[in-house]
Amino acid sequence: MKFDFTNAIRGNVENGISIENIKSISGKLHDFLESFRQSPPGFVKVLDGSSERGKVLEFAEKFRKFQNFVVVGIGGSALGIQAIQGALLSLRWNSLSSEERDQHPRLFVMDNVDPEHIASILEEIDPSETAFNIISKSGSTAETMANYMIVRGLLESRGIDPKSHLIFTTDPNEGVLRKISIDEEISSLEIPPSVGGRFSVLTPVGLLSSAVTGIDIEALVDGAKESISSFLSQDDTLKNSVLFNAAIHYLYSKAGKRISVMMPYSNALYTLADWYRQLWAESLGKERTLTGEVINAGQTPIKALGTIDQHSQVQLYMEGPNDKIITFLKVNKFRKEIDIPKVHEDRKELSYLAGADMSELINTEQEATALALLEKGKPNLTITFDEINAFEVGRFFGYYESLVTAMGYLYGINPFDQPGVELGKLNTYALMKKDGYESQRKHIEEVKGKLQPFIM
Ligand code: PA5
Repeated sequence: MKFDFTNAIRGNVENGISIENIKSISGKLHDFLESFRQSPPGFVKVLDGSSERGKVLEFAEKFRKFQNFVVVGIGGSALGIQAIQGALLSLRWNSLSSEERDQHPRLFVMDNVDPEHIASILEEIDPSETAFNIISKSGSTAETMANYMIVRGLLESRGIDPKSHLIFTTDPNEGVLRKISIDEEISSLEIPPSVGGRFSVLTPVGLLSSAVTGIDIEALVDGAKESISSFLSQDDTLKNSVLFNAAIHYLYSKAGKRISVMMPYSNALYTLADWYRQLWAESLGKERTLTGEVINAGQTPIKALGTIDQHSQVQLYMEGPNDKIITFLKVNKFRKEIDIPKVHEDRKELSYLAGADMSELINTEQEATALALLEKGKPNLTITFDEINAFEVGRFFGYYESLVTAMGYLYGINPFDQPGVELGKLNTYALMKKDGYESQRKHIEEVKGKLQPFIM
């Protein structure tokens, strides 16, 4: 994986962040590097947990015999799975025959509680041929619990023994899922308490569905280890890609670039942008610093897809408010190639396309867009995947988890909590009349009672 910051640096981009600006915070970045080395976050420690990965592989073998593997989870308990699925499985995995899938199951994710979305999955699967992985760190999130209850009800109504079709992935001690798994002896995997939802992709959360569908989970983990160890081994901020990238994003955000766009030029990498969006938003969007001052930190993460969004978003990026920094993802060697045939040889207007291949076209469009943005004074950087494979995807996860932690340090906020998400969950419990949330419900009713309605 290669990181090209050329178009983000002053001298190349008008009014850009300069090398001097970056050097001015290198002391702080160095402090961060030291503190990371001294006490690595949970998402680093978990990469050494080979015993839990052994269990993942055992369960993967057991659940592989099913036709369908359905993940029930949301947020950090779904997005990493979808990122891996999008990047590493065929884009039409679920429509392949069992032979084409090498006897691995189809993979579905029940995340939203949109009845049409859930019905569309349930209509696709035969529950007697389906395993369900219920994933919730807290073991209590309303959406996941509702979808679990629907699945459980379905199994029971068909007279299918839930125990042989269910596995729970949850906290080792907390939450109702853990209680049920103990009481009913339902198979389970543990999410280490020190790893928060959006950092959990390389725990059993993201690894079981990967192993079940035949993805090399050791390669995923090795990729993350590699990017973290290369980040930890370089003291020079100007040569350390994670620190350099953190400095760039932090300094641009301070200079008014309130939006961070991730724009893969690859359909397979689009789901990585979804994963990044949650990581960036929930980790950095914080009201207060660690010492309690109001900061309202964070950049709004946006995802876009090249080339499609050249015909939708890029006009705004070029000529709209200069409030964005854009990260392109590109791929050197695609897993498939299609040549553009030399048809219409008598048409001069099409001759530049005839004989080219599609990867040349998509990568040229990426370069053209990056240069056009540069000329318009819009900073951008490019991350190149040599090819898309489990190791490179793991590197991307390790890189971004380290990067967002560095950004949190620069802002002086806690990147590992999510009080805003918790408040929304609390209000849902209160409004759905969950026991123990009566006073929150009363509070919400009072707030609503003071509103002057404008409904048309
Ligand atoms: O990153 C986070 O902590 C959140 O996005 C959670 O992943 C999300 O809210 C789901 O929580 P849980 O896994 O506890 O059901």
